[in-house]
Amino acid sequence: MGFLTLSGGIRMPLVGVGTFMLSPDEAQASVLSAFAAGCRLVDTANAYMNEKAVGRAVRTSGINREEIFVESKLWPSFYEQPDGVERTMARLGLDYLDLLLLHHPAGNYPAGYTQLEAAVRSGRVRAIGLSNFDIPEIRELLRRCRIRPSVIQAELHPYCQRWELADFLRSEGIVLQAWYPLGHGDPGLLSEPVFRELAAKYGKTPAQIILRWHVDAGHALVAGSRDPVHLREDQNIFDFTLSRPDMAEIRKLDRGRSYFNTTRSMLNSYAAFVPPVSEQK
Ligand SMILES: NC(=O)c1ccc[n+]([C@@H]2O[C@H](COP(=O)([O-])OP(=O)(O)OC[C@H]3O[C@@H](n4cnc5c(N)ncnc54)[C@H](OP(=O)(O)O)[C@@H]3O)[C@@H](O)[C@H]2O)c1
Repeated sequence: MGFLTLSGGIRMPLVGVGTFMLSPDEAQASVLSAFAAGCRLVDTANAYMNEKAVGRAVRTSGINREEIFVESKLWPSFYEQPDGVERTMARLGLDYLDLLLLHHPAGNYPAGYTQLEAAVRSGRVRAIGLSNFDIPEIRELLRRCRIRPSVIQAELHPYCQRWELADFLRSEGIVLQAWYPLGHGDPGLLSEPVFRELAAKYGKTPAQIILRWHVDAGHALVAGSRDPVHLREDQNIFDFTLSRPDMAEIRKLDRGRSYFNTTRSMLNSYAAFVPPVSEQK
C-alpha cells in the first residue's frame, strides 16, 4: 500500500475505494471486500445516500478506526445548514472524519467552507478539501480561507489528464485525488492498445496499468467496483512502476474528454436539490 502525508502529518492512502452509485448493501459489501484486499481509504458523500452503510462497514470491519481513512462530501444545499457536518457524522456513526470535502462549487460555498473549518477546529474532522472546483475558484478560496484545503478531488483519467490543475495544486502543496480514475469503467478506455501492451509487459491488467499511471503521475485516487476480484486488483499496484517512456505513451491519450460536464445550470440545480439523506438504511 502507498501513502502520502497531508499537512499536519495526516497519513492518507494513495488508493481508495469509492461508493458512487452503489446502493447501501452494495456499498457495505464493496467496502468490506476492499478492506479485505488491504484498502484503507473509503470515499462517500451525502448525495450517494450510502453513508450509513459505509459507516457500518467501517465499524464492523474489525480494523482499528485509526487505520482507516474515511472521507465524505457535504452537498451544496447543506452548506448553509449549521448542523450539516454533525448530521454527516451521525449518519456515518463515527466520532471523527479523516477528510470532508465540499462536493461542488455551487450555492453558498464560502459558507460551506466556513463549516468545514469549524469542524477542523472542533476536532470532528482532521482535514478538509474541495471537489470539482477549478483553478480560479480554488485561488479565490485560498485567498479567504483560514484553514487551507489539503485535497482537491477532480475527474481525472488518461482521456482527461488535467495537467494544468495538477501543476497548480502541486505548486500549492495540495493533493489531487482523481475520481473516475478508470473513466467510470469505459470499455473504450480500458481496451486502448497501449494498456493491453503494457499489461502484457508488466504482468498486470489494463486497469492496474491505468491506476499505476495515476500514482506515478503523483495523484491519489478513488476507484469503484462491485467485483471483489477487481477490488483486489485495484489495490495490487504497488509492486511495479511504469517507465518514463511508458508514462509518455499514456500521456498521448489525453484528449481533454470528461465523462461528467457540470454546467452552471446543473450547479444551480444542485444548490436547490435536498437529497433525502434521512431515508437511507
Ligand atoms: N467528487 C465527485 O463529484 C465524484 C464524482 C464521481 C465519482 N466520485 C468518486 O470516484 C469514485 C470512482 O468512480 P467510479 O466508480 O464511478 O469510476 P471508476 O473507478 O473510474 O470506474 C469504475 C468502473 O470500473 C470498473 N472496474 C473497477 N476496477 C476494475 C478492474 N480492476 N478491472 C476492470 N474494471 C474495473 C468497475 O466495474 P466492476 O464493478 O465490474 O468492477 C466500474 O464499472 C466513486 O465511487 C466516488 O467515490 C466522485
